[in-house]
Amino acid sequence: MVVRGIAEASRLIEAITRVPRYVVEGVAGRFLVYSSTEGGTYSTYALDLVTHTKKLIATEVHMAVRAHESSTKVVYLKDVSRGFELSRVFARDVETGDELVVSGDVEPQRIAGLAFDGARIAWSGATKTQAAIYLANLARGTVEKVAETRGREFVADVNEKYIVGYGHLAGNPMSSEILIIDVAKGAQEVYTPKEGSSNVAPRLFGGKMLFASDFEDGDRMRLYVLDLETRELRKPELGYSDMDKFEPVEFVDLGWTRDGKIWAIGKKRGNSRLFLDGKDLGPGTGFVSSATLHGGKAYVSFSTLKTPPKVLSIDIESKKSEVLIDNELPLEVVERLGEVRYVEITSFDGLKVPTYILESNASAKPGPTVVYPHGGPWSEVANSWSPIVVSLAVLGYHVVAPNFRGSTGYGEKFRRLDIGDPGGADMEDVAAARKWAVEGGLSKEGEVSIVGYSYGGYTTLMQLTTKPKLWKCGVAGAPVADWEKMYELADRYFKTFQEVLFAGRKEIFRERSPITYVENIQAPVCIVQPQNDSRTPIQPVLDFVNKLVSTGKSFELHVLPDIGHTVSLNNEALAKFLLYAALFLSRCYKE
Ligand code: 4NP
Repeated sequence: MVVRGIAEASRLIEAITRVPRYVVEGVAGRFLVYSSTEGGTYSTYALDLVTHTKKLIATEVHMAVRAHESSTKVVYLKDVSRGFELSRVFARDVETGDELVVSGDVEPQRIAGLAFDGARIAWSGATKTQAAIYLANLARGTVEKVAETRGREFVADVNEKYIVGYGHLAGNPMSSEILIIDVAKGAQEVYTPKEGSSNVAPRLFGGKMLFASDFEDGDRMRLYVLDLETRELRKPELGYSDMDKFEPVEFVDLGWTRDGKIWAIGKKRGNSRLFLDGKDLGPGTGFVSSATLHGGKAYVSFSTLKTPPKVLSIDIESKKSEVLIDNELPLEVVERLGEVRYVEITSFDGLKVPTYILESNASAKPGPTVVYPHGGPWSEVANSWSPIVVSLAVLGYHVVAPNFRGSTGYGEKFRRLDIGDPGGADMEDVAAARKWAVEGGLSKEGEVSIVGYSYGGYTTLMQLTTKPKLWKCGVAGAPVADWEKMYELADRYFKTFQEVLFAGRKEIFRERSPITYVENIQAPVCIVQPQNDSRTPIQPVLDFVNKLVSTGKSFELHVLPDIGHTVSLNNEALAKFLLYAALFLSRCYKE
């Protein structure tokens, strides 16, 4: 039975959205720095590892936070544009509490890469008209622009000599290259071990650079170390073989310890584990989404689809883990969550689509089912905590979350499959997930709906407009409604994003836009849109809604006022999105 009453839906959604999400950021002095939604909005805290008391570092931080063992300063971004994601860079000293603006006179911008080595801060940022890389020196109080770039580059590390990052620097949407800036010489180099390969996440240790690349395998990422002085490229010599045996497909994060050992969070089929010097530190089946190492311990945030993020400390020698920050789900939420399954669904052309299923214990089988296509599109639904997936199951819907072609986590060949073809074969994969739900006995024909956010909202609108007979109804959060209009409104980062995603094929923007097909809609649609969204802006969504009005379709539109795209940074905004979805779905399943 799906939840119908407003009171019950609100109570359950409130119980789920208030469950904190945790990100381990690093260590500053004797403090473990982490970010969390525990106070209602995404904020950063410092936990004293000796006394276990905590200090607030900054409220409403905008995603990126950096700490470094050699400094008591914590560096973070704050959106100074009420949700439009124009940020300044700040630093606060954990000991003294003093805060300073690092980015000085640099105009607020979309910052997609931030690095801190304890003394210097580097970042890559984009405005409407330009993109650049900046370097700040904390002791000197200086900020300088060191390079101009195209728009979607990610600064990943900095030290006294270099700034390194990565992006589509060769202009090939299928590949990514490493950017190496020698600061003193003012020299920039685009490095790739092999033309056409994907190279990401460079991390410096003196004159050495660790990074992940698919250049040998052509599909799976592996770790490599480049000596920046001699240009010798080699595989790291690891003390243990656990990581090689696990065969990670890609890495959630990676880095060096203070004494030059390599750590990495390896990912495969929606589960990830922490490895140090090749040794498996666990902590078990599920997902490590962030980690830091310090003083004989690893600190990780760990979750599964059914258990919320906890911060664990793992002893590096014994591998024993302890819960440092616990996170409990209310019993009525736990009782409503059914089985988690991983299946591979065969799509129209034979491609296997890796899919996570979370069944609802509140409904029978077959029963009401939601297909949930994730956002990104270069992202995935893994065996990790997702408030949206969990809420849908708790509300009585079986959830099918296909990692359609283009998703991360299944190799570079699979991830590249949507480039030049978004809204094409990836939509067939989502339709295949619906078919699987019916044929596999999860749902009856005519009882499947679709819910998605961002690229998932786009997918929802594309399904409702181009495959109108498949769906009972759909909820589109912050959807892409019109690629042409969105491109006009985009800043340098998102213009590059669209150029890469479409492999330059702007001529198909219209053909791949839901707004082109509004008259085809048959099922009721609910749209939830943040007002100050600078990724999927409101204007094209309102144009889409105008067409819904003029063609007489059944729809709901809810605008989330004064906030930006990333609703998951704000518990109340996330709860509103879920509550609108819940009430819309319950009405749809009543009829
Ligand atoms: P996401 O949103 O799914 O949250 O990453 C998107 C925003 C913009 C674009 C795609 C997805 N874009 O192509 O510009």
